[in-house]
Amino acid sequence: MPPAHKQLVAPGCLGPELASSQAVKSSQLPLSSVLSLGTNTQCGHRAPPPRYEGRVRRQPLPPGPTAAAPDPLREVRGSCLCKMAAAALWPCRAVLARRGGVLRALCGSVRGLAAGTQTHFGFQTVTEEERREKINQVFESVAKKYDVMNDSMTLGIHRVWKDILVHKMNPSPGTLLLDVAGGTGDIAFRFINYVRSARERQLQRKLRSHQNLSWQEISESYQEEQCKPLGDSQVVVCDINKEMLKVGKQKAQYLGYSEGLSWVLGNAEELPFNDDKFDVYTIAFGIRNVTRIDLALQEAYRVLKPGGRFLCLEFSHVSNPVISRLYDLYSFQVIPVLGEVIAGDWKSYQYLVESIRRFPPQEELKAMIEEAGFFKVDYQNLNLGIVAIHSGFKL
Ligand SMILES: C[S@@+](CC[C@H](N)C(=O)[O-])C[C@H]1O[C@@H](n2cnc3c(N)ncnc32)[C@H](O)[C@@H]1O
Repeated sequence: MPPAHKQLVAPGCLGPELASSQAVKSSQLPLSSVLSLGTNTQCGHRAPPPRYEGRVRRQPLPPGPTAAAPDPLREVRGSCLCKMAAAALWPCRAVLARRGGVLRALCGSVRGLAAGTQTHFGFQTVTEEERREKINQVFESVAKKYDVMNDSMTLGIHRVWKDILVHKMNPSPGTLLLDVAGGTGDIAFRFINYVRSARERQLQRKLRSHQNLSWQEISESYQEEQCKPLGDSQVVVCDINKEMLKVGKQKAQYLGYSEGLSWVLGNAEELPFNDDKFDVYTIAFGIRNVTRIDLALQEAYRVLKPGGRFLCLEFSHVSNPVISRLYDLYSFQVIPVLGEVIAGDWKSYQYLVESIRRFPPQEELKAMIEEAGFFKVDYQNLNLGIVAIHSGFKL
């Protein structure tokens, strides 16, 4: 059994933090004085939206800890103690506003710690906690229409990308796969199909090599195969969102997948699995949504067996300027409209497009994977870099 603290997503002590950010909104303090209290801690504060001028540039993150450089104060910032201190100090805001100076700075920095490290949600600047909450809302909102939207947005090409991922994995019978951010199970179902046909081919080869088998022996071999079509292979789908898993389970039932398949609610940044457990770790269109990519990569490394393989399929960056411009036009002008028409949800698909533009390019992600300890890291661009598959090994 994994330790209790690793069982599930810890939502953290949201109470005081939300309370304090609500207080900021409803306070009598002028906005300028709130901002002058140090870190910008306003809940839902939107950075001025970058103007779309054809090719969208990645915005630099505000100074501070980055995904690649873990923040040593993270524990302290997120701790209940800080949040409680912030909530306790909040009622004296009027006095502080008059006195200013040291007290104001003190209150500001405590609240800054409570609000947490800043990051981005699409083109908005938010705290890490807010981002996790918003991502959860996005996938809760799109879960039921997720598959149909995937087909419409990519004209079905996402299916080919996922097939390529599983072919690259080339799982042999007996492989234990962990598919993180597995959502509605697309990678898991492909894995099962692949292993089944690999086993069938194996069986045919075995039977062909024995020339003098009776028909009973052949028939028995096939019956055995039908009882255990996956052999010892297994796939675990792990996702942070209950709704996505619910849709995935219904789909599995409808399509007749059950053997060797399990569903686990869990956070990629803190996986509920023991060390050195899996042969392969996949994450398809998931890592972009993870708030601390560095932690997710460390966790991937931890749960893989030595010799295990990491595979990540994700939207990436197109280098050809003409294609890139066309792609931007399509992304910003068409995808949110499709989101609204098909799923009644413009905002989630606007986030999708923005998050793709904010995601590290191929070489940067490769460096992050190496930083987590993986060896022989490389990547393959698909469709001119619209998506890329990164691969690495734990040695
Ligand atoms: C775009 S979907 C991809 C689903 C599936 N892998 C596919 O390719 O169709 C992204 C998934 O990432 C999940 N996710 C986001 N943040 C996560 C986290 N920190 N840990 C685990 N899953 C996460 C979401 O709930 C969602 O199901």
